[in-house]
Amino acid sequence: MTEANRPTVLVTGGAGYIGSHAVLALVDRGWPVCVVDNLTTGFRFAIPEGVTLYEGDIEDAALLARIFAEQKVGAVMHFAGSIIVPESVENPLKYYHNNTAKTRALIAAAVEAGVGHFIFSSTAAAYGIPEVSPVTEDSPKLPINPYGMSKLMTEFMLADTARAHAMNYCALRYFNVAGADPQARTGQSTAGATHLIKVAVEAALGKREHVGVFGTDFATPDGTGVRDYIHVSDLAEAHVLALEALIAQPARSLTMNCGYGRGFSVLEVLDAVDRVTNRTIDRRLQGRRAGDPDSLISDNSRIKATLPWVPRYAELDTIVAHALAWERKLTEIRGEV
Ligand SMILES: NC(=O)c1ccc[n+]([C@@H]2O[C@H](COP(=O)([O-])OP(=O)(O)OC[C@H]3O[C@@H](n4cnc5c(N)ncnc54)[C@H](O)[C@@H]3O)[C@@H](O)[C@H]2O)c1
Repeated sequence: MTEANRPTVLVTGGAGYIGSHAVLALVDRGWPVCVVDNLTTGFRFAIPEGVTLYEGDIEDAALLARIFAEQKVGAVMHFAGSIIVPESVENPLKYYHNNTAKTRALIAAAVEAGVGHFIFSSTAAAYGIPEVSPVTEDSPKLPINPYGMSKLMTEFMLADTARAHAMNYCALRYFNVAGADPQARTGQSTAGATHLIKVAVEAALGKREHVGVFGTDFATPDGTGVRDYIHVSDLAEAHVLALEALIAQPARSLTMNCGYGRGFSVLEVLDAVDRVTNRTIDRRLQGRRAGDPDSLISDNSRIKATLPWVPRYAELDTIVAHALAWERKLTEIRGEV
């Protein structure tokens, strides 16, 4: 496919953290892009100039029909959703509504408009507490919270839809997403985010007093939880490659883990933040949170075998440095102290 006849990609949630990086990755590679976002947790400033933002909800069928026609959309990258695990336990129906029911509406509108390709933000939470780590895509899918279940349900809807209609899909199961655009054009901007690296750089810049370390008795070398942190720009790149793979083989759908296949403990991450920022963050050792596995690491052999994906920013210190640079930029944007 030449650049001239590429279809437009509709990015839902493109004003959010990961979606805005996907928009940049697409624009950088010459794809026509538009965004639909209701700006509940997203920001207009995260969308680059020249990209049309439709401010609205993914369940608005009339709006979607208009976007699909107006923009000649041929593919959807679907990031819009609610992402806070503890909130999903307290308010499960919000998650089944915003993540599952509204995605059903989005898929229906896409099928109706003849959109051929659909890429979906799924999550390692689909595996629950895996018995074996690294986790392969074929590991049991046993989510332990409504967030993970709301996402897994979407995977089922997509699989059935792809069997019945002229649409293929790719479900990407992200591990722990971190870092920011290397040029600091966007990054994670949501106030009160709970992601460790974001929280730690906020603490390093004096925006928080301390960082909680939840659990020191896990079955890991230093007792703190181990996670597979993936740089958001490498993840965004995987989306573009997945899109190309779906277009190249329209009869094939894909489900792939997105991680680097290695893990760092909470203490290793905090050491990296101290190193990169040249400060010592105040660490508060606390009890475990319910449902945290000891270790959650991806087996990424499938994505490596399927896509020409070569991660560029896998060094932990690079991930932290980019998160820090964005946090500083965000301070300027918001005029924070
Ligand atoms: N951040 C992670 O570590 C992680 C891990 C696994 C999966 N994911 C998935 O990746 C996706 C993006 O996550 P994120 O971290 O960028 O979150 P985010 O909150 O920054 O982005 C979500 C975006 O979707 C928009 N949105 C939410 N509901 C909408 C709706 N009904 N209609 C239109 N727009 C809506 C928000 O305004 C926001 O811009 C989510 O689907 C999430 O479940 C994230």
